[in-house]
Amino acid sequence: MKDKVSFTLGIDIGSYSVKCAEVSHEEGRPPKLQQVVRVLIPNASKEGAAEAFRQLFSKRSFSAKKLRVAVSGPALIIRRIQMPRLTYSELKGAMRFEAESHIPFPIDDCLLDFQILDETPDKKKMNVLLVAAKRDLVQQRLQGVAAHGMDVELVDVDVFCVINAFEKLGENSQGERVHGLLNIGHQGSSFAVIQDKLPFYVREIAVGGREVTKALAQMQGIPEPEAEKLKIENAPEVSSAVQKGLEPLMDELRHAVDYFENESGESLRWIGLSGGGATAPVVSSLLSEELGRTVSLWDNSKKLSVSESADRELLAKHSGEFNVALGLALRGVKQGK
Ligand SMILES: Nc1ncnc2c1ncn2[C@@H]1O[C@H](COP(=O)(O)OP(=O)(O)OP(=O)(O)O)[C@@H](O)[C@H]1O
Ligand SMILES: [Mg+2]
Repeated sequence: MKDKVSFTLGIDIGSYSVKCAEVSHEEGRPPKLQQVVRVLIPNASKEGAAEAFRQLFSKRSFSAKKLRVAVSGPALIIRRIQMPRLTYSELKGAMRFEAESHIPFPIDDCLLDFQILDETPDKKKMNVLLVAAKRDLVQQRLQGVAAHGMDVELVDVDVFCVINAFEKLGENSQGERVHGLLNIGHQGSSFAVIQDKLPFYVREIAVGGREVTKALAQMQGIPEPEAEKLKIENAPEVSSAVQKGLEPLMDELRHAVDYFENESGESLRWIGLSGGGATAPVVSSLLSEELGRTVSLWDNSKKLSVSESADRELLAKHSGEFNVALGLALRGVKQGK
């Protein structure tokens, strides 16, 4: 009897490009990547995003009947908080009140989610990861995709997709119990510190590759689109623009690393890098130098089973940009043996 195959489709709607990954799942086999698509967003604008989406669905056909999307950005709050030890359902009831003191938006305007992490050493309390997203943010995203007639089966958060992609596909070659995951996009980046497979620190940072383009444009006295081209060509001037443009990101990271190390008493020695904003080689060397830790790109291709029909060239060239889409498509699916 033929095994039943199901499909999941993860779509990452960024501010620079839309990336999608379709994965097939068959019992007893590892999930297989069937196709990857990347469509650039004209002028990196909202209208451009709608156009990119239209292109995506007019050119491609997908086997998946539903799609999965992620949200990110400043309208998203992620906090690690301590709560008394409660059952899951007790916690669910208590979370709304607790959340009020951590979230700078009216609680009625937010969708809440949480994950129980671990107990404190004295076992009297537990650590909980609280996630709050402004309803508008999620609704906008859902409306954007609804126009294409496909139902959304899952809404996740960019940074948790990257964590999931690393769990499923990453190799912690440094063998660290503690590692960081930094995804640098265009408008923003995300940073997570994972300790014993659990997220300890998770933040959205409103700095990405766009700041490098802006710095380059300013330093060279040229318009942004021209600076963007220069950046992609990896011109020698890019180095100082990366230094200038990513300085606020480095400040946030220094703060995050200090916070983590003080709170946990552990050291963070390795940070795995991904996202389009991490493409220029100078980014990892600069971050390593500035943070005094090893910062290197992590490879999502070794453990990924890829169908013959998938665009391998695209994947090889832009693999680190697909982590959100891959994390979405691989979510909640058992790995084959
Ligand atoms: N070859 C390259 N060299 C240098 N930078 C690159 C290269 N390719 C892409 N980038 C940069 O990567 C960034 C886009 O990365 P990514 O696709 O991860 O962003 P996004 O997901 O669309 O944005 P966001 O998540 O912030 O909304 C842009 O700033 C772009 O200039
Ligand atoms: Mg992104």
